Amino acid sequence: MNIDGIPTRTLRADPERRVIDIIDQTRLPLALHWVRVGSLEAAAHAIRSMQVRGAPLIGATAAYGLAITLANDASDARLEEAVTVLGATRPTAVNLHWALARMRRLLTPLAPARRADVAWTEAAAIAEEDVAQNAAIGQHGLGLLCRLTPRHDGVLNVMTHCNAGWLATVDHGTALSPLYAAHDKGLPVHAWVSETRPRNQGLLTAWELAQHGVPHTVIADNAAGILLRAGRVDAVIVGADRIAANGDVANKVGTYLKALACTDNNIPFYVAAPRSTLDFACPDGAAIPIEERDGDELREVHGVDPRGVPATLRQLTPGEAVANPAFDVTPARLVSALITERGICPASRDDLLALYPEPILHD
Ligand code: MRU
Repeated sequence: MNIDGIPTRTLRADPERRVIDIIDQTRLPLALHWVRVGSLEAAAHAIRSMQVRGAPLIGATAAYGLAITLANDASDARLEEAVTVLGATRPTAVNLHWALARMRRLLTPLAPARRADVAWTEAAAIAEEDVAQNAAIGQHGLGLLCRLTPRHDGVLNVMTHCNAGWLATVDHGTALSPLYAAHDKGLPVHAWVSETRPRNQGLLTAWELAQHGVPHTVIADNAAGILLRAGRVDAVIVGADRIAANGDVANKVGTYLKALACTDNNIPFYVAAPRSTLDFACPDGAAIPIEERDGDELREVHGVDPRGVPATLRQLTPGEAVANPAFDVTPARLVSALITERGICPASRDDLLALYPEPILHD
């Protein structure tokens, strides 16, 4: 996707120095700041603190984090330590565990002297596959969008939640990839971008859509229902952090409410995700671990003051009881279709197995 008109990926790998540069997403949309990651600790911090976020980008960063670690010490003990440290950073997005398991399976049988180079090559392969898969998701999703008849003003209105765009992946995005494909093809599209309290990932979505020139409007999360009911939305497309074997979908908290409102108003609700998000070992949504995040994400708001200086404001007393589940589960029956790199399929065990007959391993 473009930043200031220049095609840019979210992750820049330097094979000579064995480091990567990432965008510090905690500073967006107010500042674009690249951060160098050159150690296991820095990679774990980047994922845990959400400098990088979004299921596919977390997976690619973890793979590079392992490769960076092994460049200095590729012993069995360090390999296991790095897998454990990186695997403990965030629980819900299964792409993290998929990427680490893929790296570990490949690297463990090798002599330590060979591991660093092979790890770097494999991390690069994971990143490249992410780009190709998301591009394919875009084309399949574009086919779906082209079949919709706009309900309002001849413009295709697509609502999304959280950020499942370019920033959540190495390139293209998942849920936003069909939108970018439609926009690049010259179709009139407009995105409704829900703010996504409390971390406000919707503001990242608005930023990247603006960078690429896609028309969009930010809404408070609670405004989704009235727009869906008023015929102002032709489809909702969201990403996923984990899709269970039966097609249940874990995604950013608030996704389930949009799916319910879509069902009530007969509006298609699509989930876009690559194979690394599928977890056939997880029988259904009830088995998906849901991350509970720090209550200060609700008690405080972050921004800049009128002089542009970063500031934090407290909106609740420090002792106020809060609950902060970061994800929710949308039952498969509310999902109109999954958009994958292999095509469109109903959210069901049989249809997923037909599309992915080979095993997808996460450990
Ligand atoms: O907590 P985050 O910001 O990492 O969560 C991201 C989301 O929920 C995305 O919508 C999801 O990862 C889909 S990724 C393309």
